[in-house]
Amino acid sequence: MHIDLLLVKNATQVVLVCRNGEEYLTRDGMQTLAVVENGSVLIGHDGLIKAVGPADIIESQFKGAKFDNVLDASGMCVIPGLVDAHTHPVWAGDRVHEFAMKLAGATYMEVHEAGGGIHFTVAHTRSATERQLLDGLQSRLERMMRAGTTLVECKSGYGLELDTELKMLRVINSARNSLPIGISATYCGAHAVPKGKTMEEATQDIVAVQLPKIKTQIASGELQVDNIDVFCEKGVFDLNSTRCILKAGKDMGLNINFHGDELHPMNSAHLGAELGALAISHLEEVTDDGITAMAKAKTSAVLLPTTAYILRLSPPRARDMLDAGVIVALGSDFNPNAYCCSMPMVMHLACVLMKMSMPEALAASTINAAYALNRSQTHGSLEIGKQGDLVIINAPRWEHLVYQFGGHQELIRYVIIKGEIVYE
Ligand code: NIG
Ligand code: FE
Repeated sequence: MHIDLLLVKNATQVVLVCRNGEEYLTRDGMQTLAVVENGSVLIGHDGLIKAVGPADIIESQFKGAKFDNVLDASGMCVIPGLVDAHTHPVWAGDRVHEFAMKLAGATYMEVHEAGGGIHFTVAHTRSATERQLLDGLQSRLERMMRAGTTLVECKSGYGLELDTELKMLRVINSARNSLPIGISATYCGAHAVPKGKTMEEATQDIVAVQLPKIKTQIASGELQVDNIDVFCEKGVFDLNSTRCILKAGKDMGLNINFHGDELHPMNSAHLGAELGALAISHLEEVTDDGITAMAKAKTSAVLLPTTAYILRLSPPRARDMLDAGVIVALGSDFNPNAYCCSMPMVMHLACVLMKMSMPEALAASTINAAYALNRSQTHGSLEIGKQGDLVIINAPRWEHLVYQFGGHQELIRYVIIKGEIVYE
């Protein structure tokens, strides 16, 4: 595939996010996002960043060079492509009727225990064809790209048995091959205990049947799976089952990235730290000790402000985590419960509801989210040698992307992945 040599020049601000190749930004680093005033970015034929910095320096450095494509970004701002560290985007059957139930006062677990929630989506996803699921996934991923997401984590987990979980993972694989957006695939067969099985039976099925089959398909190149996930929650998978499943996944080379301490304190943070987890999501109910353990183990916290917002939960304690030195990332948690494709909206909610600053929210949606997906060497900041993924904002300061909420289509002028313009 031919990729154009692309020069984005004279942007009012170029936000590098990361300086000096730091792997991720914690509290201190986040206060000082590196911003170049009047900057340019050059992306090579290989889709990687060749130069980034003050426009006059880049102009003299590449004087006389012929570029296939030049974008004049005067009056606009450039940020790294956004990274969404947590989504459930493969499913059939929406849950708009449950939104009405929740607005009328039903809790998430009341809906789940009455056979709705994840169980409703599982029934529809099991009976959908692969084509139907792929069509749905592609249109959701296109909406995400349109909102500036260039790398996204995508979970399975609405099958809860081998055939449907494999079907979902194949659909994620097909999307990876048919769309420019980067994908990190997560096996989440332990998203709920399937109807008719005990937690012990479900755990046994995952460890002895599903994971070995997935391992074979990864080895033969049929599937690419990056992470393993479990919903560690009271009434779903307890700590022992979670440990057993995560360990089995880790033994086959998957990164541990799981749901923990969401509705009840479960000691998930301690477990994640013990197992060397790369990321734990939610954490609304994490304890102080859990926060300390995560900071020490460099296990990142993937915070999901849409979930707390829609379920009217107390939001996760982002400030306490940042103060303790935890690597804080953000995700949309896109799923039939929290129907949000937009990381700009997520950053806005993180600032208003979780008291993050705008630079913290941007770092959490770029370099730290890339860290949570084990991609911080290649994604999440504008540095020479990293992938040329950019969002160009039609505003005089980058903060407009967080400040303005709703209607980001007007604000996002270009989305670029590996040097290719995917939206304008
Ligand atoms: O992250 N908490 C568990 N999983 C999802 C919800 C999935 C669903 O309700 O379909 C979450 O919010
Ligand atoms: Fe989730």
